[in-house]
Amino acid sequence: MNKILVIHGPNLNLLGQREKDIYGTTTLEEINHKLTELAKENHLMLEIFQSNHEGELVDKIGKAKEDNIKAILINPAAYTHTSIAIRDALAAVTIPTVEVHLSNIYAREDFRHTSLIAPVAQGQISGFGLNSYLLGLKAIVELLK
Ligand code: DQA
Repeated sequence: MNKILVIHGPNLNLLGQREKDIYGTTTLEEINHKLTELAKENHLMLEIFQSNHEGELVDKIGKAKEDNIKAILINPAAYTHTSIAIRDALAAVTIPTVEVHLSNIYAREDFRHTSLIAPVAQGQISGFGLNSYLLGLKAIVELLK
């Protein structure tokens, strides 16, 4: 079974309580549950990791090859716009990566319009809430065919 690494960046542990007008009421647990269901339907195994710490995210991505990860689904959250280290880690491991965002980052503040991650990802899905993650996982299913 192909193993997919799902990475949630900073503050996504607060989903459900955090800025509900932007991110809605779905919790991270619910997102992970839906992703796990979709993964099972597609005979994929998920490893799910959330951290508020840039270095931990870099370490996790750096280990992905030895952990036999076949693709990465990542919401880098605020690190999308700031983290050269996460971008470099993804570039280093050369594992197909799909970037997702709950909100449409291009319809928000200017500082969210730049993703440092997008150039090293296969593609990006932004603005569909929980469905951004599910569409992202579906994109991975197709990428792995
Ligand atoms: C986010 C968008 C980012 O700009 C923000 O910092 C987040 C969440 C999203 O999923 O919409 O924390 O990645």
